[in-house]
Amino acid sequence: MQSDLALSVDLRQMIMAIETAVSLVGMNDTNHGKRVAFIASQLGQELGYDEQELAYLFELGLLHDCGVSTEQMHAGLVNHFDWDEAHIHCEIGHRLLSHFKPLTGFSVPVLHHHTHWTDFAGLAVSERDARMANLIFLADRIDVIAFPHYGVDILLERDEILASIRRYSGSYFNPEFVDAFSRVQRHEAFWIALEDRHITRYVWDMGNLQRREPLTLKQLKQLSMILAYIVDQKSPCTAKHALRVADLAKYLANRRGLTQVQCDKIEIAALLHDLGKLHTPDRILEKAGPLSATERAIMHQHSFETYEILRHIRGLGDAARWAAYHREGVNGGGYPFHPHERDLSIEARIIAVADIFQALVQRRPYRPGLELSEVLDVLDEMAAGRRVDADVVELVERHAAECFEIARGNDVAFNQPYIDFSRADTDGVSRRS
Ligand SMILES: [Fe+2]
Ligand SMILES: [Fe+2]
Ligand SMILES: [Fe+2]
Repeated sequence: MQSDLALSVDLRQMIMAIETAVSLVGMNDTNHGKRVAFIASQLGQELGYDEQELAYLFELGLLHDCGVSTEQMHAGLVNHFDWDEAHIHCEIGHRLLSHFKPLTGFSVPVLHHHTHWTDFAGLAVSERDARMANLIFLADRIDVIAFPHYGVDILLERDEILASIRRYSGSYFNPEFVDAFSRVQRHEAFWIALEDRHITRYVWDMGNLQRREPLTLKQLKQLSMILAYIVDQKSPCTAKHALRVADLAKYLANRRGLTQVQCDKIEIAALLHDLGKLHTPDRILEKAGPLSATERAIMHQHSFETYEILRHIRGLGDAARWAAYHREGVNGGGYPFHPHERDLSIEARIIAVADIFQALVQRRPYRPGLELSEVLDVLDEMAAGRRVDADVVELVERHAAECFEIARGNDVAFNQPYIDFSRADTDGVSRRS
């Protein structure tokens, strides 16, 4: 059975997924990370860096803004050349990466990707990290200045862009890097490659080059938690939602007697189910009243976006679909794929119920958190209308008190910091078997 196949995901695939997820915050510009990765690698090539360094720069470019979850922060970074609050996303990104072993090598350059070149003199940062960070800073600022011109008049604006960057040579940027940029930018191909159609294909090709660094299950869970955390940062009203849904879904999967592999995959799929919300405008996620028809239509796109991110992670297999089907009904209602009942697997049905259960328990800007009896009433009604799986709801009812505690996060064992990697290292992140 396919659902019983163990997961086998390469680190490069997950780096690409982090970039795709985070870039959705850009709303109408979802290629910033990809362009920074490209520009930085081109600069590195011009500087004579070897293959390994270039691969590193490329990945650093993809990851550099992993601390950006809100449109407001994204806007601040693209609308100001040197934004006072830029350090916040650097610190968040640094914290996320420094706790995850396979990516710790990126954490210091991410912390300093807005640090001025001259300021490194007083910092305890290795020369290599300082250079990598500054190359990303330069690539990032080139992209911000050039953005309005891609595909329009970029070839006419090159001199202007170079002049703007040159003003900061020797202060913000290493002059050696600015010189490399002045040589690279002479090639029209450099600029044309940055247009949406080309940059996505370029990064896609690069993504196919495997690192041959398969992640362990533990690591895949940790990375999924990082991604869940990035989503939660965007909307504090749903804090820890994905984490609690994952706990609850895994608990139900266990009670239902699914295999360990299925339980692990359900946990990962549940952690990732709302990734697509990174593309939902902040104002809709945080709206205190009922959504208008237009807002609801936008909101309903999020599970499709989730699928778009996850289906490209080779090795995630059917878990991508389980995550993307979390709003589908057994009766063919729900959204956005409307799979036939026979294609709605038990794993997807469990995640759907866990998602609704947790959301109802949680306080939202438009209503208080519901009591257990109220939650069960809602689920009963949904099961009767075949909007959710009746057997899964029955399972919930048999373990109602426990489900309620898990969904609220009141169980002592669950009351841990959001990302507790020390614990993850010892017990594989699972908070309950
Ligand atoms: Fe940044
Ligand atoms: Fe950036
Ligand atoms: Fe959700």
